[in-house]
Amino acid sequence: MSQLKNDRYLRALQCLPVDYTPVWMMRQAGRYLPEYRQLRSKAGDFMTMCQTPELACEVTLQPLQRFELDAAIIFSDILTIPDAMGLGLYFESGEGPKFKKSISCISDIEQLPIPDPEQSLKYVMDAIRLTKKELNGKVPLIGFSGSPWTLATYMIEGGSSKAFTKIKKMLYSEPKALHQLLEKLANSIALYLNAQIQAGAQSIMIFDTWGGVLSHQSYQTFSLDYMQQILSQLKQGKKSQDITSYIPVTLFTKGGGIWLDRIINTGCDAVGVDWTVNLSQITQKGKIAVQGNLDPSVLYARKQTIESNVEAVLNEYGYHNGHVFNLGHGIHQDIPVENVQHLIEAVHRLSKRFHHD
Ligand code: CP3
Repeated sequence: MSQLKNDRYLRALQCLPVDYTPVWMMRQAGRYLPEYRQLRSKAGDFMTMCQTPELACEVTLQPLQRFELDAAIIFSDILTIPDAMGLGLYFESGEGPKFKKSISCISDIEQLPIPDPEQSLKYVMDAIRLTKKELNGKVPLIGFSGSPWTLATYMIEGGSSKAFTKIKKMLYSEPKALHQLLEKLANSIALYLNAQIQAGAQSIMIFDTWGGVLSHQSYQTFSLDYMQQILSQLKQGKKSQDITSYIPVTLFTKGGGIWLDRIINTGCDAVGVDWTVNLSQITQKGKIAVQGNLDPSVLYARKQTIESNVEAVLNEYGYHNGHVFNLGHGIHQDIPVENVQHLIEAVHRLSKRFHHD
């Protein structure tokens, strides 16, 4: 028997029946929570919080103390890998992530090390081990990474970008160099995610935040193929009576709704979808799990509007197994906390009629 007190999230990812639709939110531990802002100002900065396992653990648990969430996600960032490769990650207030060194040519790429997850990324593994212990089976713990393509965008652009001109220039003029970087990232990510599984992560999510900026051909060869390569290297275990013996993997390409069939074909367990996707048009529901897809801006609205939008998402998914309720992207930092409370409560209450356990 599994030692999990709440296994709805893992059951939904395996398309098994549940009593109501499990829900968690991307960026559920973050700046919209006053206790997060308080801890961050005490810690000094974001990276210190990520790199101090006790703080990362505390922040991971903060939203679970307030809301009846069905999963926890380890507090960290997708940019830990490029940082461990020596690029020097830092955050400037209001400007998002930046790197001291960026990647511009093949020799930069050749020099990048493949980080040993129990060395330069040990702080993430320690945070997972500690959080797993503290959770004590309350809900499952999600581990994560960025996709190779998404990490490469930050490494080549030197930080956040709007037009992705540097990486696209490399894609079309030096494709071999870019492939070499993506290959190195895929290998690093597979090691990193397997170490997270070893440390206790019970499900894995890969964030392909910027896959949607690619052309339909490039998406396949520069993003999806590398995510598939990672999938083939992950030690997912085997499905059994004990739900926790198998580690499901969710692939989330923001803006990837037009490529859902291709994403599903990778053999992932779940697809994450943003709010541009109509869940009623996904044909393989019940065979593959789907995570999503409320527009995070709905959370600015009044209670009734939140409720009617939750209802709409649940209706679109319908009576199939395999739905994990989430936002279509991360929660905004100025969302009122009580609106999140309404959302979680509404998902649990309104989803009951879609399940007969
Ligand atoms: O979801 C969670 O609660 C777990 C923690 C988590 C963070 N980042 C914490 C964070 C996760 C899963 C991420 C993933 C991440 N990080 C992504 C992929 C998901 C997505 O949003 O598409 C990306 C692209 C990043 C890179 C990154 N990190 C950016 C662009 C920023 C700046 C965001 C901003 O609005 O300023 C970060 C910093 C970051 N990561 C914060 C948090 C809570 C804010 C840091 C702070 O100022 O306290």
